[in-house]
Amino acid sequence: MLMPTHLLSAMAVLLFLVQVPTASGEPADCATCHKVEHTEFAASIHTSLSCQECHGGPTEYDIPATQRAQLIARKADWGLTFDHGSTFSGKPKRQDIPNLCGSCHANVERMNPFGMRTDQLARYWTSGHGKTLKEQGDDRVAICTDCHGTHEIRPGHEPGAKTHPFNVPATCGECHADSKLMGDFDLPTEVVDEYRQSVHGQLLLDQGDSGAPTCATCHGNHSAMPPGFTSVSTVCGKCHDHVNKFFATSIHATQEGHRGCVQCHGGGEGRHFHLIERITKTPGVLIQRYSHLLEKEPNPTPDEITEAINAKPKEIIMRAMPTCTDCHDDLEDDESLPKLLEILDGISEAERYYAQTADRLEKVGQGVLLVENQRFLFDDAKTQLIGLAPLQHTLNNDKVKAKVAELNAVCDQVNAELDTLEDGLRLRYVALIPIWAFAVLFSVILYVKYKQLKRQYVTPLPSERGA
Ligand code: HEC
Ligand code: HEC
Ligand code: HEC
Ligand code: HEC
Ligand code: HEC
Ligand code: HEC
Ligand code: HEC
Ligand code: HEC
Ligand code: HEC
Repeated sequence: MLMPTHLLSAMAVLLFLVQVPTASGEPADCATCHKVEHTEFAASIHTSLSCQECHGGPTEYDIPATQRAQLIARKADWGLTFDHGSTFSGKPKRQDIPNLCGSCHANVERMNPFGMRTDQLARYWTSGHGKTLKEQGDDRVAICTDCHGTHEIRPGHEPGAKTHPFNVPATCGECHADSKLMGDFDLPTEVVDEYRQSVHGQLLLDQGDSGAPTCATCHGNHSAMPPGFTSVSTVCGKCHDHVNKFFATSIHATQEGHRGCVQCHGGGEGRHFHLIERITKTPGVLIQRYSHLLEKEPNPTPDEITEAINAKPKEIIMRAMPTCTDCHDDLEDDESLPKLLEILDGISEAERYYAQTADRLEKVGQGVLLVENQRFLFDDAKTQLIGLAPLQHTLNNDKVKAKVAELNAVCDQVNAELDTLEDGLRLRYVALIPIWAFAVLFSVILYVKYKQLKRQYVTPLPSERGA
């Protein structure tokens, strides 16, 4: 379809009119001059937001062509300034950032469509970080952007996020491993390294097991930092439910001033709350260590066995011992402490017996005897053994003794059945003697008879005759 010429010329005039202002300037938006921020922002969770929602300013500027290239290509040390206009709010100050983020994230109406929680800001103000910022105006504490980033914010489940579990220790470590900064607040810097060395840190960072706690699991993402000793066992109990239940029945659970789980698992005196070590020996490890010992020492003493298969549990208590004397007398004068060592000795002895029995079962099983029933029975011992370590947290010697007795009973039964099997085998060997004797005698007779017959009936070959 052809357009009337007057209409076309009218449009040309219109276009000309629209373009007039750009004769002196060209349109530019934030992205034109801030490429880095723009690129980071485009890959973030916030793409549905605009720069203006945090910084103000118009959606578009007119830039004189002469300045444009320079402004875009600028380097920090050129000292160029640009008038962003009256609605521009500039770069947010650190102490204003929580409220800036909170302007959306604490706004239920704003966040509802995304189904997101809106308590981060409120929780933040209850944290050590938030309180220090609010009460002392000290902005060296963590604010939202230190943990999440500024323009590159991503949800925590994305591997690149600063809040992804694997990255959290490094994110917190930016400040908590900084000795100058932490020194000013009288906080230790070892926390990060000790965490990395701990059973949890190794699980998370070396083995990629996201079931292990990161800093934020125990300290909370936004609140409750530090957990406080009264709630430590609740924090640990989120995962170590079994142990926590037993600990809750112990006398210590109600003692004011007791540090809960980290009283013993905190690497002893000082503030080593993060040095939580592996102490449990899985049944497999016990057996392995025992058979290693046997290779070097065929007839080990009970002490050597205990030493070889488990040295740790007592070590943990001995290291923690100075902190126990906050409430208890010295080891010599106190009745409670020897009681705990007795519990641990009882467990050690049971573990020793378990390892010996397992080793015997294995060896017998390699021979001609079928030990399937005994193996099946022994599985029960394994269950009892696994139940022992958590149970000792009750500090109740009677309960531990009862469990040890159950474990020993299974081992006794397995050993008794192995005795019976081996006796039976020996008996069968004995019963075989006459049969063997007969067989030998019979073959001797046969051989003699064969020689006789050979001499009588077999004519020698000519070559043999010649010799
Ligand atoms: C024509 C180029 C240009 C445009 C368009 C532009 N800026 Fe800038 N911006 C600059 C220059 C130049 C500076 C100052 C020097 C520097 O920080 O590099 C600056 C500084 C800033 C700062 C730091 C201010 C401070 O106090 O340190 C922020 C924040 C900022 N711009 C945001 C924006 C936003 C948001 C937009 C869009 C609404 C925008 N800019 C548009 C060139 C521009
Ligand atoms: C969710 C809020 C938010 C949005 C949206 C946002 N910014 Fe920022 N921006 C910030 C904060 C907070 C800072 C201060 C960071 C700091 O203290 O280091 C900042 C800093 C800056 C700076 C100064 C950087 C420096 O090193 O001094 C520039 C430039 C900037 N923003 C540009 C942009 C541009 C361009 C966009 C859009 C693509 C944008 N911002 C979107 C929150 C935001
Ligand atoms: C203008 C409103 C607004 C501001 C200001 C804002 N956000 Fe957001 N934020 C959102 C919206 C909307 C989403 C959800 C986006 C989506 O899911 O598409 C979001 C998502 C997030 C997420 C991802 C949550 C998840 O796990 O899915 C994080 C983290 C986040 N914002 C942190 C911040 C931080 C830190 C600041 C301050 C620097 C901030 N936000 C400022 C609106 C805002
Ligand atoms: C000390 C570090 C730290 C600070 C400070 C911090 N966050 Fe977080 N934030 C986290 C961690 C860790 C997560 C959990 C990440 C995940 O698993 O999704 C998180 C999660 C979030 C989420 C996802 C939804 C949720 O609640 O799980 C939002 C939104 C968020 N933070 C916003 C903020 C805002 C707003 C601020 C400032 C008021 C802030 N954060 C301060 C560490 C921090
Ligand atoms: C930007 C630096 C910075 C980052 C990042 C940071 N913190 Fe902090 N944190 C501090 C400072 C400074 C203090 C001391 C001020 C105070 O007592 O609140 C502190 C205090 C604490 C305390 C309180 C200690 C006490 O006795 O009150 C805990 C717990 C803590 N941080 C945990 C964390 C965790 C967990 C993370 C990571 C998810 C983290 N922090 C990230 C700077 C930071
Ligand atoms: C398994 C749980 C757990 C994990 C994981 C954990 N913490 Fe802790 N943290 C604690 C406990 C328990 C305390 C001591 C409790 C108290 O002070 O009330 C503590 C105390 C702290 C303190 C205060 C230290 C002091 O001496 O006052 C800081 C700071 C801290 N943790 C930072 C971190 C950082 C950073 C990470 C990650 C690298 C981390 N924590 C990981 C449980 C944990
Ligand atoms: C009185 C000191 C003490 C306290 C308090 C204590 N533990 Fe233990 N814990 C030990 C000893 C000793 C062992 C090693 C037992 C063994 O290997 O036979 C142990 C073993 C463990 C194990 C490994 C056991 C298994 O089943 O694999 C876990 C997990 C554990 N403790 C967690 C906790 C938690 C969580 C708390 C707090 C609710 C806590 N502990 C409180 C002394 C203590
Ligand atoms: C997020 C879950 C989680 C939290 C919270 C947690 N742990 Fe663990 N912990 C684990 C996992 C997973 C293991 C590895 C268990 C295994 O390999 O058998 C572990 C192992 C341990 C071990 C070594 C057990 C062994 O097999 O020798 C001890 C001791 C321990 N944790 C104590 C604690 C204490 C004390 C706290 C609280 C300060 C705590 N844990 C908090 C998940 C957690
Ligand atoms: C906050 C004070 C406090 C601390 C710290 C403390 N205890 Fe106790 N403990 C008590 C009290 C109170 C009792 C009950 C009275 C008694 O038997 O002396 C007790 C009892 C015990 C018992 C005996 C339970 C019974 O049934 O007789 C053992 C074992 C024990 N504590 C071991 C330890 C060890 C090991 C440590 C150090 C890792 C420790 N305690 C640290 C207060 C504490």
